[in-house]
Amino acid sequence: IGFMGSGKSSVGKEISALCDYFFCDSDELIQSIVNKSINEIFEDLGESAFRNMESRLLQWLQANARHCVIATGGGMPVFNDMRNLGVVVFLDNDFENIAKRLDSKQRESRPLFNDTIKAKELFMARSSVYKNQADIIISPKDCALSPKQIAQKIMDCILHLQAK
Ligand code: S3P
Repeated sequence: IGFMGSGKSSVGKEISALCDYFFCDSDELIQSIVNKSINEIFEDLGESAFRNMESRLLQWLQANARHCVIATGGGMPVFNDMRNLGVVVFLDNDFENIAKRLDSKQRESRPLFNDTIKAKELFMARSSVYKNQADIIISPKDCALSPKQIAQKIMDCILHLQAK
C-alpha cells in the first residue's frame, strides 16, 4: 500500500520474483473487469463507483487470493480495512520523490494527481491512515533504494515477523 506513484507496482513485481508468487495490481484487475481505464471509470461512472469496485475486489481477494503479491490502488486502504488480506507493507515514500518519479503521462493516468497542490494535501491527509493499516513500514530513506533492494528489505522484514 502507499500513495500514488510510491513504487508499489515496481517493488511488488520484484517481491513476486523473489518468492515466485503471482503479482497482481488492483487497478489492473478493475480495469480489466470493466474494460475501461481508471480515467474513464472516474469520468463515466464517478469515483464512488470506482470505490465500490475496489471494495468488492478487496472482499474477493480476502476470500480467494493466496500466495500472491498485491499492489493496491492508493485509495484502497483509505476506504477499506486491509486486515485479513495478508502482510500489509506501506511504502512511506516522500511526496517530493513521488512527484519526481511521475512523468506527465503517469500523472495524466491518475485522476487524483492532476493538480500537484491537491495531491500533496491528499498525501498529508492519508499518511497516518496508511501507517495504521500497515504491518511493515518502509521508511522514506529506504524508498530511495532500487525496487529490488526494497523488495529484499521487505522479504527480510516478513521473515523476521514470521520468526516471532
Ligand atoms: C488512487 C490511486 C490510483 C488509482 C486511482 C485512485 C487513489 O492507483 O487507484 O487513480 O485514490 O490514491 P495508484 O496508487 O496505483 O496510482
